[in-house]
Amino acid sequence: MSDLNFLLYLSLTILTGIVLLNLLRRKQNTLNLPPGSMGWPFVGETIGYLKPYSATTIGAFMEQHIARYGKIFKSNLFGGPTIVSADAGLNRFILQNEGKLFECSYPSSIGGILGKWSMLVLVGDMHRDMRAISLNFLSNARLKTKLLKEVEAHSLFVLNSWKHNSTFCAQDEAKRFTFNLMAKHIMSLDPGENETEKLKKEYITFMKGVVSLPLNFPGTAYRRALQSRSTILEFIENKMQERITEMEEGKVNEIDAAGDDDDLLGWVLKHSSLVKEQILDLVLSLLFAGHETSSVSIALAIYFLQTSPETVEQLREEHIEIARAKRQLGEVGLNWDDYKKMGFTQCVINETLRLGNVVRFLHRKAVKDVRYKGYDIVRGWKVLPVVSAVHLDPTLFDHPQRFNPRRWQNNGNGSTSLVGTSSTTNNNNIFMPFGGGPRLCTGSELAKLEMAVFIHHLVLKFDWELLDPSDQPSAFPFVDFPKGLRIRVQRRDTVYI
Ligand code: HEM
Ligand SMILES: *[C@@H]1O[C@H](CO)[C@@H](O)[C@H](O)[C@H]1NC(C)=O
Ligand SMILES: *[C@@H]1O[C@H](CO)[C@@H](O)[C@H](O)[C@H]1NC(C)=O
Ligand SMILES: *[C@@H]1O[C@H](CO)[C@@H](O)[C@H](O)[C@H]1NC(C)=O
Ligand SMILES: *[C@@H]1O[C@H](CO)[C@@H](O)[C@H](O)[C@H]1NC(C)=O
Repeated sequence: MSDLNFLLYLSLTILTGIVLLNLLRRKQNTLNLPPGSMGWPFVGETIGYLKPYSATTIGAFMEQHIARYGKIFKSNLFGGPTIVSADAGLNRFILQNEGKLFECSYPSSIGGILGKWSMLVLVGDMHRDMRAISLNFLSNARLKTKLLKEVEAHSLFVLNSWKHNSTFCAQDEAKRFTFNLMAKHIMSLDPGENETEKLKKEYITFMKGVVSLPLNFPGTAYRRALQSRSTILEFIENKMQERITEMEEGKVNEIDAAGDDDDLLGWVLKHSSLVKEQILDLVLSLLFAGHETSSVSIALAIYFLQTSPETVEQLREEHIEIARAKRQLGEVGLNWDDYKKMGFTQCVINETLRLGNVVRFLHRKAVKDVRYKGYDIVRGWKVLPVVSAVHLDPTLFDHPQRFNPRRWQNNGNGSTSLVGTSSTTNNNNIFMPFGGGPRLCTGSELAKLEMAVFIHHLVLKFDWELLDPSDQPSAFPFVDFPKGLRIRVQRRDTVYI
C-alpha cells in the first residue's frame, strides 16, 4: 500500500516537473529578449566593456555592439545577465521608474568601499532620508547666500597661487579646488592646514581603490583603499567627537552654538537622527561624490577650451563685461546676479559635460518584468543606461565629437546643431550628465556654480597652453587625464576699463 502511495507520489512529482518545465520553456520562447551575446561564463563580456578608451568616444565595445545589435542589447556584465541601453528613451524610462520597475544596484565592491550607508547603494526609505539631508545641504538658498562666496574664495585660493609662466598639472589643481571646497563645507576644514593635507593624501589612495578591480588581496589597490577608508573614517569620527564635545560645552556655558549649522557635520548632528555609522558613510560619500566629478569636469573644460580659441575669446568677452560692470559699481566679489549673466559660460559647461561624460553609465536592475518597445527585460537582470552613448549619438547631436558650445545657444527656439531637438524640454530628455528621476544628482547646481566661477577667474587672469598633446582624457571607465594634464600659464593684464 505504502509502495503504491510512493509510486503515485513520484509520478505526480515528475508530471508536475514536466508541466512546469514546459511552461518555463514556453515563457522563455515567448520572451523577446534584445539581441546580444552573453560572452564567457561568469566574466561574460565585462573585460571588453571596461577596457580603457578615449573619453570623447563611446569606446570600441559600445561601437561594435551597437553596430551589430542596435542601441538596446543583452550581455553578461559584472557577473550577471544585463541589458545595456544606449537608447535615450529607454534610459529616461529606467531613471524615471526608479523604485517602481527598476532600482539602483551598484556592484558590492562599491558598497564595500563607500560603505553600506552610502547614498549610492541605499534604496527605499533610507535613501529618501539621506537624500533629503543632502538636498537641504545643497539647496538653492544655501548656494546663493553661502556657497557662492566659498566657491569664489576657494577658486581664488588656487588660482592666485599660480605663478607667471609656470607649469603644473591642471588636474591636480582642479582637485585641490574642489577638495578644499568640500572639506570646508562638510567639516569646516581650512585649506593648506596639516590635517586637510593629510586627509587629501589619504583620499588619493582611497580613490585609486575605487577605480581599481575589487581584488581584496594584500598589496592590491583595493586592499590599500579599504585601509584608507578606515583611516578616513577615524579622522571623521575624531572631528565628530570634537564637535559633540563643543556642543555639550556650549550648552553648559549657555553659548548659542548656531555656527555649527554652517557645515554638514554640525547640521546632521543637530537635526537628524542618524547613528554614528550612518553619519560617517554619509560624510565620506559626499566628499567622494562632491569632489572627483567636478574636478574632472574643470580639467576637461581647461582641455577642451584649448582646442577652441574662438570659444575662449567669446567667454572672455562675457566675463570682462561682468568684471567691468562690477568695477564701475565698486563691487567686490561675485553675486548671484553676476552668475545669472554667465549665459555663454553655461553653454560651455553643458558642452564640456556632453563631450567629456564624467559619469558614463549607471548601475540599475529590473525589480519587475518590464516590456519596452517590444523587448522583454527580465526581473532580476542588471540594466545599464549608458548616458554617454546618447550624448555622443550623431543622430541626436550634429558632429558629436566636436567641442562646440554654440550648439547650446538659443536652444529654446530651434537650434541648428542639436539635431532633432527643437525645444529645451526635448533637450532635457536626451542630455543627462547628472542622471535623472528620483536619484538625480543633488550636487548638479553646485557643480555648475563651481565650474562657472572657476572659469570666470581663469579666463580673466590667465592664458594657458597644454604641454603634452598626447595627454588626452581617457575613460577607465572613470574619466581621467593619464598624465594629469600639464599646462603652462601666463598671467594676463587685468585692467578692463
Ligand atoms: C560635474 C559634476 C558632477 C557630475 C557629472 C555628477 C553626476 C552624478 C550622477 C550621474 C549621479 C546619479 C547616480 C545614479 O543615479 O546612480 C549623481 C548622484 C549624486 N551626486 Fe553628483 N555629480 C557631480 C557633482 C556632484 C557634487 C558637486 C555633489 C555634492 C556636493 C554631488 C552629489 C551627489 C549625490 C549626493 C548623489 C546621489 C543622489 C541620490 O542618490 O539621490 N555630485 N551625480
Ligand atoms: C617661460 O619659462 C621658460 C622656461 O621655463 C622660458 O624658456 C621662457 O622664455 C619663459 N617665457 C616667458 C615669456 O617668460
Ligand atoms: C604642520 O606640520 C609642520 C611640519 O610637519 C609643523 O612644523 C607645523 O607646526 C604644523 N602646523 C600645525 C598648525 O600643526
Ligand atoms: C544645459 O542643460 C540643461 C539640462 O541639463 C538645460 O536645462 C539647460 O537649459 C542647458 N543650458 C543651456 C545654456 O543650454
Ligand atoms: C532665438 O531667439 C532669439 C531671441 O529670443 C533670437 O535672437 C534668435 O535669432 C532665435 N534663433 C533662432 C534660430 O530662431
